[in-house]
Amino acid sequence: MLECSDKENKNASPAHGDSKDMIKGFSKLDKMGKLDLIIDKYFAGDTSSKKNILDSWYSDEKVRKILDEFSENTVGEFHLPFGLAPNVLIDNTNYVIPMVTEESSVVAAASKAAKYWFTRGGFKTEVVSVNKVGQVHLIIDGNFDEFFSFFETCKKTILSNLKPITQNMEKRGGGISKMELRDCRGLEEGYVQVWMEFDTCDAMGANFINTVLEAVAKDIELLAAEYLPLHDIETVMSILSNYTPECLVRAWVECPVEDLAEKKLGMEPWEFVKKFQRAVRIAEVDVNRATTHNKGIMNGVDSVVMATGNDFRAVEAGAHTYAARSGQYKSLTTCSINNNKFRFEINIPLSVGTVGGLTALHPMAKFSLNLLQDPSAKQLMSIIAVTGLAQNFAAVKSLVTTGIQKGHMKMHLMNILNHLNATNTERDAAKQYFLEETISFNSVREFLETQRSYQ
Ligand code: MEV
Repeated sequence: MLECSDKENKNASPAHGDSKDMIKGFSKLDKMGKLDLIIDKYFAGDTSSKKNILDSWYSDEKVRKILDEFSENTVGEFHLPFGLAPNVLIDNTNYVIPMVTEESSVVAAASKAAKYWFTRGGFKTEVVSVNKVGQVHLIIDGNFDEFFSFFETCKKTILSNLKPITQNMEKRGGGISKMELRDCRGLEEGYVQVWMEFDTCDAMGANFINTVLEAVAKDIELLAAEYLPLHDIETVMSILSNYTPECLVRAWVECPVEDLAEKKLGMEPWEFVKKFQRAVRIAEVDVNRATTHNKGIMNGVDSVVMATGNDFRAVEAGAHTYAARSGQYKSLTTCSINNNKFRFEINIPLSVGTVGGLTALHPMAKFSLNLLQDPSAKQLMSIIAVTGLAQNFAAVKSLVTTGIQKGHMKMHLMNILNHLNATNTERDAAKQYFLEETISFNSVREFLETQRSYQ
């Protein structure tokens, strides 16, 4: 067994860095100053590395400044492909869906599934609820009953003190929908939560919610100092929750099993639906498969969340917690076959906005929202859920029929060819040749070497 002795500790390297290695005052430098410092220090002044960064800059100076100011210490922009999936029929409206992803096959899979369902009734959706949650986490040292009745007495005052923050949201039809105290002493000594629910209309609402929560915490401290001087009240933190099971959207496709017949399916529709349903069922009972299954869903979800300037980390976090809500991490989609009808459904919490944040500032996010016919947040929830469902349908359909590698490697061929600096003529020849051959990095390299040896 390993033990940690004094002797070993003496020989260990210091746990802290050497301060002379620190870059000091980095944030104070202007953009070019930051870039030059990094190029000098880490790229030995290499001008081609600097050029790569300069080439990433947006050409319009005004837009570039806006992009720079989204974040900090910005020296360039990071480009990702912006693709379009056409023919996505959602609740009888035909959309072209913008998708930002670096992964090959994702846009192709969504487009394929969209086309498939276009003639089979399209996608249907229902926004189940739009409630978002925030919490003020408090630790109370004092008489709990007194604190609870103090809160009930002060609730009206607290809410009315919030008016300057909430009135605009209320004018738009949203605001605070619930504020209550929750006794969490069973979880942590003295722990109490102010639980708040919000409708933030078409905004994602993170700033609004957090501003409200911090004001509530401050107000409780002030009021308690006056009315409960013998209580010690500590605000631990005030923050929204990215778990939004009450900001939920459902999307589904359904049709008679016979309508799934296709020549290239390679099997009868009943055999296909049974295999498909079994695959989804496995993602409900096996956590390893569930993770990959949901990853495929998030391929679609994240790509639209990103294209529309929304927060994909928030959506990811909430979706996975929701997938584990029963105590076992499970598929976000379900499949049923009743009365000869195949139905494939997703339920997913999606806290997104179509106003505020990056939505109007980022030129591509703005374009995406315009392309989606300037949707409300509810409509965007539907569009995103459908893209996740379409993605999952395409992946599972491939998995239970041809396997995914055939289609995936066909798309990936372009990456390999780019990596190997193939010319346009070589690319055309490779596309033709690999229609029938197995694609791998080595096989493509060998193909190019053979081609080049003839020149
Ligand atoms: C790859 O990014 C996503 C898939 O693995 C999803 C799945 O297995 O369902 C194809």
